[in-house]
Amino acid sequence: MKELVIAPSILSLDYANTSEQLKELNESNAKWMHFDVMDGHFVPNLTFGPDILKGFKKCSDLFMDVHIMVDNPEMISEIFVKAGADMVTFHLEAVKDIEACIALCRKIRAAGVKAGVSVKPKTAVDALLPYLSEMDLVLVMSVEPGFGGQSFMEDMLDKVRKLRKEIEANNYDTRIEIDGGINAETGKLAVEAGCDTLVAGSYIFKQNIKEAVDSLLCQK
Ligand code: DX5
Ligand code: ZN
Repeated sequence: MKELVIAPSILSLDYANTSEQLKELNESNAKWMHFDVMDGHFVPNLTFGPDILKGFKKCSDLFMDVHIMVDNPEMISEIFVKAGADMVTFHLEAVKDIEACIALCRKIRAAGVKAGVSVKPKTAVDALLPYLSEMDLVLVMSVEPGFGGQSFMEDMLDKVRKLRKEIEANNYDTRIEIDGGINAETGKLAVEAGCDTLVAGSYIFKQNIKEAVDSLLCQK
């Protein structure tokens, strides 16, 4: 399994204290920054555009993990590729079919950016299994996408186990990320099931950032 990476979700950042929180984040052991893009249609919430990503890139060297929860990922992925995303993860539910999903992964990769595919809680991962070599990451949602601070859905770990089995059996390079309701306790369960990338929003930004990240890293 790959080295465990923590991706703090800046959806939960305290925007009244942005520079202070970013400084703390940069000094922590987090290697990624998880950037949630919501369009008010695919999910009932609205967040950040590309200029915000460009701004964050000016004050952080973290790997920019962009999760687009939008109805038109073909168009929006391009915008965030241009804005400097390191990874763009779109939703399987937002593309027409698996062929369109693979085509978009290829397009993102051709632009020199890593490609991820996410599934909502009600979507199975089975359709992705034959194509894992086409994606750098699979993001398993462990809450309904749209808001931070929801409770972890433990039954999503079955999808993680299935993905891990397939990745190990074929020696794929694909990461398994989980997003929603992650804290020290649920993070441990996710790592045991086979996740190598943990997104956490409210857990990290509602306490000392460095300590929270370290508590997620010390799962073993
Ligand atoms: C939810 C977002 C998450 C969110 C997680 O749709 O995709 O990244 O920030 O927040 P927590 O960790 O608070 O569940
Ligand atoms: Zn997310």
